[in-house]
Amino acid sequence: MCGIIGYVGPEQAQNFILDGLATLEYRGYDSTGLVVINDDGAKLVRSVGRVSSVRDELAGKPLIGKLGIGHTRWATHGAPLERNAHPHTDSDKQFYVVHNGIVENFQDIKTMLEAQSVTFKSDTDTEVIPQLLAYNYKKLGDVKEAFLKTIRSLKGAYSVVMVTPLSPDTMYAARLSSPLVIGIGDKENFIASDPTPIMEHTKKVIFLNDYEAAVITAESCEIIHIKKGKLAKRIPEELEYDPEQALLGDHPNFMIKEVYEAPQTVRSALLGRLRVEQKLIKLGGLELVEEQLRYIDRIIIVSCGTSFYASLVGEYLIEEIAGIPVEVQQASEFKYRVEPLNRSTMVIAVSQSGETADTLAALEKVAGYGVLRLGVVNAVGSSIARLTDAGVYCHAGSEQSVASTKAFIAQVTVLALIALYLSDGNTPLYEEMINELDKLPAKIEAILKLEPAIKKLAKKYSHHRDFLYIGRRYMYPVALEGALKLKELSYIHAEGYAGGEMKHGPLAMIDENFPTMALALDGELFEKTMSNIQEIKARGGPVIAICNDPAKLKDLADDVIKIPKTIEQLQPLLAAIPLQLFAYHCALALGRNVDRPRNLAKSVTVE
Ligand code: G6P
Repeated sequence: MCGIIGYVGPEQAQNFILDGLATLEYRGYDSTGLVVINDDGAKLVRSVGRVSSVRDELAGKPLIGKLGIGHTRWATHGAPLERNAHPHTDSDKQFYVVHNGIVENFQDIKTMLEAQSVTFKSDTDTEVIPQLLAYNYKKLGDVKEAFLKTIRSLKGAYSVVMVTPLSPDTMYAARLSSPLVIGIGDKENFIASDPTPIMEHTKKVIFLNDYEAAVITAESCEIIHIKKGKLAKRIPEELEYDPEQALLGDHPNFMIKEVYEAPQTVRSALLGRLRVEQKLIKLGGLELVEEQLRYIDRIIIVSCGTSFYASLVGEYLIEEIAGIPVEVQQASEFKYRVEPLNRSTMVIAVSQSGETADTLAALEKVAGYGVLRLGVVNAVGSSIARLTDAGVYCHAGSEQSVASTKAFIAQVTVLALIALYLSDGNTPLYEEMINELDKLPAKIEAILKLEPAIKKLAKKYSHHRDFLYIGRRYMYPVALEGALKLKELSYIHAEGYAGGEMKHGPLAMIDENFPTMALALDGELFEKTMSNIQEIKARGGPVIAICNDPAKLKDLADDVIKIPKTIEQLQPLLAAIPLQLFAYHCALALGRNVDRPRNLAKSVTVE
């Protein structure tokens, strides 16, 4: 939520800021703004809408200055209006602030400042930061001290970057529970919400930790512990990165690019970990905690959104293959729930971004219990990756489209590996799963060839207002994920249900206008899913079936999508792909923006 960017160095700041904001737009895209500082003061531009509209506005009349910050917003407090766009400034226009997160005590600060005759111009929580900064500066007469004092007064979650004409060669930054990474260049320094916009300029980075502030000039970067007020010694780390990953190439949008990356995603997640010849699973990240893993008798997986549905597949996998009881909890619920936890419980956080506020909070909640905390994270060096004791990276590469596709595939693949690793080979499925995992990329490639047929189906069905997705066992979480994809991309109302629950309510909705996507793959429960389809057909409901053998659904399903066979435990990795393509084409048929669905953001860093 909200993307932050900043530059100080010998170049014109505007260029890096606009390019960087475009890269960070996945974090929020309802308004955009930037401020550039030069010897004459500050030049501020803010606009409702995308980065491209600000770029157009500045074409031919660029902002001149070698220090600047920018912001792309996902509204929390206040509608997407120009006055609520960042950067925000104080009444005297001295301090310019961009902020990601929520200032929970903003009302108290505002009331205090209003009593001092400060007038607020926006509806945001953020505006209290520059106003309080101006107030503190009047008392202290020192920018850095005023900044630190202001930051110490904030409660909630924040990443903040500030510039001021009073100190025209310095950026000031601070972080609590919201990401910020500093790029250390050659006589130039950068700051951003994630490393992507920085990486083509430098691979040397410092991820700010909670309660750290930074004072950054072109030649220096001083890190200060906010509470202790002391300098913190931080050595920059080198990030591995393939800048090609973040480029669209020949694809019309990131979503379809990322769906087509699924075969490579599985290969990358398996690389070096799945040793088919030796029948071995090697997870270097877990070897560090191997001893502790022996004592685990309960696993809680915490996650949100698509990662939550990948976790549900993980629950089925770990319970069946490793024989350890697992429960999956939405991180937003887990963090407020009261339940017994002990040292033999392990908590696994599953997150693409590694920055989701609720998932982070869930991990923080269990910090005092001595439980082992594992991460299944895609973004290398992210907050969750650093907060956990050990973990397994997904290696899916950068995922830009707001709706998650390849990250789901990578997460399920990694959870399957973890299940096998924890089983220690003590499952009759061990060898078969290893062999089948190896064959998955080729099978996914075959499914991707179905895109033209799926596009036709999407055209046929996209006028419907409602959709039901059903599946049983391993197909149940896939039904939930399929329904989520359809609703977030096309805004068609869709619900996912376990097939066995149909009679307990959803059947009442079925008629000729309420189609069902039935996940009817071969397996133990195929006949039971067939019964569900019969019941739907008996009530006039149209059915699309994802199946292995269309002959078995003849005269029953209205349309079928045939996909290759695999063992039931790995079917989610295949069945998810046609559902992603179906949602994608429904969205396109309805003229939706597939990469940037309305009201959503890729990285949800506020509660
Ligand atoms: C947002 C995104 C989803 C994602 C969810 C969890 O809602 O739009 O695509 O699944 O956050 O994010 P995470 O980064 O923790 O996987």
